[in-house]
Amino acid sequence: DIVTEIASLERLFTVDQAKLKEITEQFIVELKDGLEGNGNIPMNPSWVMNMPDGEETGRFLALDMGGTNLRVCEIELVDEKGEFDIIQSKYRMPEELKSGNAEELWDYTADCIEQFIEYHHEDDKDNLETLPLGFTFSYPATQEYIDHGVLQRWTKGWAVEGVEGHDVVPQLEKALRERKLPVTIAALVNDTTGTLVASAYTDTAMRLGCIFGTGCNGAYVEHCGNIPKLKHMNLPDDMEMLINCEYGAFNSKGTTPVLPKTPYDVMIDETSPRPGQQAYEKMISGLYLGEIFRLTMLDLHDNKKLIFQNQDLAQFRTPFCLDSSFLSFIEEDPFENLSETQDMFNDKFQVKANKAELELCRRLAELIGTRAARLCACGIAAICKMKGFDSCHVGADGSVFNKYPHFKQRIAKALRDILDWTGRKDPIVLSASEDGSGVGAALIAALTVKRIKEGN
Ligand code: BG6
Ligand code: GLC
Repeated sequence: DIVTEIASLERLFTVDQAKLKEITEQFIVELKDGLEGNGNIPMNPSWVMNMPDGEETGRFLALDMGGTNLRVCEIELVDEKGEFDIIQSKYRMPEELKSGNAEELWDYTADCIEQFIEYHHEDDKDNLETLPLGFTFSYPATQEYIDHGVLQRWTKGWAVEGVEGHDVVPQLEKALRERKLPVTIAALVNDTTGTLVASAYTDTAMRLGCIFGTGCNGAYVEHCGNIPKLKHMNLPDDMEMLINCEYGAFNSKGTTPVLPKTPYDVMIDETSPRPGQQAYEKMISGLYLGEIFRLTMLDLHDNKKLIFQNQDLAQFRTPFCLDSSFLSFIEEDPFENLSETQDMFNDKFQVKANKAELELCRRLAELIGTRAARLCACGIAAICKMKGFDSCHVGADGSVFNKYPHFKQRIAKALRDILDWTGRKDPIVLSASEDGSGVGAALIAALTVKRIKEGN
């Protein structure tokens, strides 16, 4: 019956303390492998070598291509420590572009920048100084220098043809040139790198920048002496370099499997455009949480014949028809009888859920949301342990971090479990970042412009 099924779902989705520790240890192994240039986790050098000191000034554009929206910002870093002005516009990222071709993608992107300039610079667009652009491109890219980045592979369900294996900077530049836009790309950055830089701008205890959104990833500062794959460049050992880990790839194909995958996680992977890749991300990030829920519910209906019997679930059968906000909504249903959840099932899927079914839904959402947060903690703990940080701050961004109920508290609890921490004040503290992909990208562009001026 349903009560027994809830107990078995609890066993399936719960990640206990011992498992968290085991995952974290394997995580450290794979992070180190990545620094050697082996294994699954790319550990991409970002060529961001220093943090801003608050003295940066000037006007910059930032373009944020993350997965959900496209955002263009103009940021003025003013001559006062840590101060800035920002204007921004958001543009929808049409779904069909994500599986189209490179030219369509860059044309659309350049059109958005053009619209931004026309809208915000109606009066001075003809004599606008050339603006340096910080381009937040939130996919794994191999960078040999800061305004260069060869896409290694698409993640987060994207599959635009003609970009993988190519430097994305000249592709976007061509579209900008065709529109004669007064913009030059100064830096290509990942959203995690931007998050770390923006967070560290106002908090010197910041050591990590993390995204918990459509995808999941982290960045931190490494010493070049600890990056064997850069040895041939003879960089000073104590020189600092921000690393975009791309740790959503943790425990993908070819490593000792430690992730507690359910049959539903296996299904998501096997039916994804890229089976075997981003194993960790597929269990925890916003793109997949609703789908894990949907597949579990369908199994309980179709195979176990436990819920929604004699009802037509046609509306529930479209892959990815639920996003993570659906789970947030269920977890946040304020009524004891879960009447809001009941209404939602009715309105959205024409399904009538009874009391026991609603309780199962609520518990399943909690289990999936809690598992995601607990697994997220492993990546953070692994970097802190590898670096020997006793305490630090972590700047975080992304829709799951900002909107999913209890996410932050659940990560904090899991970190205490991993570190065996029982003290009053947590050693690792997460806080919402101050717009890494806007301000962070602008700061990195400013650092680059400054470095070029100084001739380094
Ligand atoms: C946004 C940042 O706040 O969060 C983006 O501006 C980032 O750069 C994004 O990629 C991540 O969240 P989501 O949920 O949009 O993937
Ligand atoms: C995916 C991307 C990574 C990004 C993360 C969060 O993991 O590969 O570059 O940082 O999503 O947006």
